[in-house]
Amino acid sequence: ATASRGYHERVVDHYENPRNVGSFDKSDPSVGTGLVGAPACGDVMKLQIKVDDDTGKIVDACFKTFGCGSAIASSSVATEWVKGKHMEDVLSIKNTEIAKHLSLPPVKLHCSMLAEDAIKAAVKDYKAKNSKATGKAETVQ
Ligand code: FES
Ligand code: FES
Repeated sequence: ATASRGYHERVVDHYENPRNVGSFDKSDPSVGTGLVGAPACGDVMKLQIKVDDDTGKIVDACFKTFGCGSAIASSSVATEWVKGKHMEDVLSIKNTEIAKHLSLPPVKLHCSMLAEDAIKAAVKDYKAKNSKATGKAETVQ
């Protein structure tokens, strides 16, 4: 894949055709909402996950990002990556992996950081809303 005008084609693709743009009902107990801002530029990202309460698997995800193209592309990739994964497993998604996937230049690293932070915030929110159910995460031997 070749870069055009300094941006990798995956960025352009995710920017022009962002996946999973939208919102879930924040008050739905199976929804976790992560709302984060980038101090460097003031951009804001909202990423939401829908979790299967029995398995802890993320069955759906969406985002709304008020920010630059790299932030939009990063959130689009993030929603694609978290879907179908267990909520504990997505905590290890690193912004550097997203940045690498999109070939973001170093000055745009903070944009992918928003996505990593938003994933973590969404999982945290889900857990806080379902604190009584956290025992489910522990496996019985
Ligand atoms: Fe969409 Fe890789 S091109 S996540
Ligand atoms: Fe702020 Fe990209 S320039 S998130």
